[in-house]
Amino acid sequence: MPGLIVIGSQWGDEGKGKVVDVFSSQSDYVVRYQGGANAGHTLIVDGKKTVLHLVPSGVLHPNTKCIISTGVVLDIETIVEEIKALKVNGLLQDSKQLLISDTATVLLRYHRELDQAREKKAEHEKIGTTGKGIGPAYEDRASRKAILFGDLFDPSTLREKLVKSLDEKNYLLEHMYGKKPVDVDELIKEIAVYTEELKPYRCKNTSYKIHQALKADKKILFEGAQGTLLDLLHGTYPYVTSSSTIAGSACIGSGIGPNQIQKVVGITKAYTTRVGSGPFPTELDDEVGNHMGTVGKEFGATTGRKRRCGWLDLVALKYAIRINGITNLALMKIDVLSGLENIKLCTSYELNGEITTVYPSTPGDLAKAKPIYKEVKGWSEDISEAKALQDLPAEARSLVSLIGSELGTPIDVVSVGPGRKQTIWVKPLF
Ligand code: IMP
Repeated sequence: MPGLIVIGSQWGDEGKGKVVDVFSSQSDYVVRYQGGANAGHTLIVDGKKTVLHLVPSGVLHPNTKCIISTGVVLDIETIVEEIKALKVNGLLQDSKQLLISDTATVLLRYHRELDQAREKKAEHEKIGTTGKGIGPAYEDRASRKAILFGDLFDPSTLREKLVKSLDEKNYLLEHMYGKKPVDVDELIKEIAVYTEELKPYRCKNTSYKIHQALKADKKILFEGAQGTLLDLLHGTYPYVTSSSTIAGSACIGSGIGPNQIQKVVGITKAYTTRVGSGPFPTELDDEVGNHMGTVGKEFGATTGRKRRCGWLDLVALKYAIRINGITNLALMKIDVLSGLENIKLCTSYELNGEITTVYPSTPGDLAKAKPIYKEVKGWSEDISEAKALQDLPAEARSLVSLIGSELGTPIDVVSVGPGRKQTIWVKPLF
C-alpha cells in the first residue's frame, strides 16, 4: 500500500513542487489528479528554474512515470508548450514517461476567455482567478458537456460535442460579455495541431494503470495542486478554486480506493500567503509582510501576481490536518523568517466575543476572526546551508518543535531554501 498524497495545507504556493520533486526521485509514479494550469510548481535544480503547470513534477526524474488522471482539466495549448520546453531542456525524452488519461477534461481557449470575461465584469466582486479557464472547464464536466481527452482522437464525436458546447458558450461570449464568438471549424483546425503533439501520451485507462502499479507494490505519489483552503467544498467559499483540493480528491480524481493510501503529507509554509480575494485573518500589511514577500519571492508562478503574506495560522492548519487526514508535515521556507526579531504563531481566534481554536466554517465568520498570537524569539543567522536540525540556531529549532507539538503532527521535512539540497530530512519518506 505505498500510495502517498502530497497536498498543500494552506492557500496554495506552499512549496509542493520542490517536495514532490525530491519525493519523486524515490517514487515509481507521480500522479496529478485535480486542478489544471492554474497550478505553478517551481522547481530549482542545479540553479536552473523549471515551472510546471500541468506535467507532474516527477518529470525531472527520467525513471519516474508521470500520470495526468481523470480529475485534471487539461489545457491542451499549455501542456504542448510545457512538453516542448521540457524536451528542449533534455527532459521527457521518452514519451512513455507521461500518460494522459482519455477521460481527463479538455480545457480550450473559450474556457479561458469566459473565465477572464467574467472576472472583468465582476468588478468589485472578483474571485481573483488565475484566468486559466478552470471554473468554466469544471462547469462543463459537471453539466456533462465536457470534451474528454479521448474525444480529440475521434473527429466526428469532437465536432458534435464542440458544436453543442459552442452553442451555449458563443451566446455567453457574444451577448453577455461582448466578445467574438468562436468559429467551430477554426477551433477544430487549432485543436488538430495539439492533438497530433499529444498523441504519444494518450492512455485509455490511467485508473487501471495506477491500480496495477499499486498491486505490484510500486511507490505512487499523488501530487495535489492548490491548497486546502481553496477547496471547492471545504475552503473559503466563494473565494476558492473549482476543484476539490483536499486529500480525498486524490482517490476521486485518479480512480482508486481510499484504502490504497498510506500517508498524507501536508506541505506548510512557515508563514502564510494567499493570492486572489478572500478573508485572511493573519494577513500583514507592514514591514514584516513585506519582508516575507520580498525574501520569499512571493509572486505567483502562474500569473506573476504579488501574494498577500501573513503569520503562520495554526488554527487553519489544524483544520487542514483534520479534513485531509494529514499524517506528516513538511515545513517549508523557514529560511525566509531569518532576520525577524520576533516570530508570531496564531494559536486561536477571537470570534463574536469568544476564543476559539475551531476554524470558522463560513467566510463571513472567518473575515470577523481576530488572530491571537504566541510570540517567540527569531534568529538572525543564514540557515540556508543547514543539513540537519542540529545545524539550525536554537530559536529556529524550537520554532520547528513548537509548531510540531502545537499541531500534534510530526514534521518530517524542513526546507531551508529553494534548491533540492536545501532540505533537512527528519524521517524517510516511504
Ligand atoms: P482559479 O483556480 O483560477 O479559478 O482561481 C480561484 C482562486 O484560487 C483564486 O484566488 C486563485 O488565486 C487561487 N488559485 C488557483 N490556483 C492557485 C495556485 O496554484 N496557487 C495559489 N492560488 C491559486
